[in-house]
Amino acid sequence: MKNLQQSENKKLQHLLSIKGLDKKIIEQIFDDADMFLEKEVTELHNHASLNGKTVCNLFFENSTRTQTTFEIAAKRLSANVINLDIATSSQSKGESILDLVNNLIAMSVDIFVIRHSEPGIPELVARNIKSNAHIINAGDGDREHPTQGLLDAFTIRKFKKSFSNLKVAIVGDIQHSRVAKSEISILSTLGTKEIRVIGPKTLMPDNIEDMNVNVFHTMEEGLNDVDVVMMLRIQKERMSNNTIPSESEYFKNFGLNQKRLKNAKDDALVLHPGPINRGVEIESEVADGKQSVILEQVKHGIAIRMAVMTMMIDKK
Ligand code: CP
Repeated sequence: MKNLQQSENKKLQHLLSIKGLDKKIIEQIFDDADMFLEKEVTELHNHASLNGKTVCNLFFENSTRTQTTFEIAAKRLSANVINLDIATSSQSKGESILDLVNNLIAMSVDIFVIRHSEPGIPELVARNIKSNAHIINAGDGDREHPTQGLLDAFTIRKFKKSFSNLKVAIVGDIQHSRVAKSEISILSTLGTKEIRVIGPKTLMPDNIEDMNVNVFHTMEEGLNDVDVVMMLRIQKERMSNNTIPSESEYFKNFGLNQKRLKNAKDDALVLHPGPINRGVEIESEVADGKQSVILEQVKHGIAIRMAVMTMMIDKK
């Protein structure tokens, strides 16, 4: 994976996975994102690092935050942006995704942002395309969501500065969540003191013991003394059977409310990648409360995506 993502003369060719991404590159993306956040305040005009380039959003699954922030990020960098409507595209006539992408490359697309329900589709495209176009994984099944991992870790760095003294708890549907996989990888690469996962046994992946995390099955134990709480949505669209008894039962046992949050440190951050389901994994008082940085995550998503696309294009 590392060679596919980072070639010898180009710093970042594709972004497919957090796994195999150097700590140095992650920190450079964070520093660049800091610069873009700062510039947003001090400069009203666009940055031109993607001037003349074309970014194509290929979303085979629904999205609000990822697709919109990629579009805003690309436009702030002066790129042309295409949001291909998959439902009305020639995919419905049986065209393969590789043929689709190669046709768009013939139209001079430079960066593809791909979300797909099948794990590995962005990597398959990256391995087989007939050009130097860049592929960014915007979420592939239950496997990875690397820009979400980057923006979440960036948000933690903004508030907590360093990872080496942090205890971070990731709560909920670990098994079906691509966000959880990217979070565990990036927190590990950045040297986080302790990564905990909390959830019912039915929502833990089979290989959880190999993930270098501490596993908890009660909120009270798992949240004890943590610095960061990362909540996850229940991924019903990826569940083949009744993995949880009911939403109300799930909320009773694993929902984040003010009382449970008191087990964490007083200054603990609450994150959620969105979309949030109020009353299922988090109560409104916490989602909208003073420890929540959920909307800061969304804002940081623009800066992180600007940094990633600039790094790809700048190093040619
Ligand atoms: N966090 C996230 O991926 O949200 P969207 O599904 O709205 O893109």
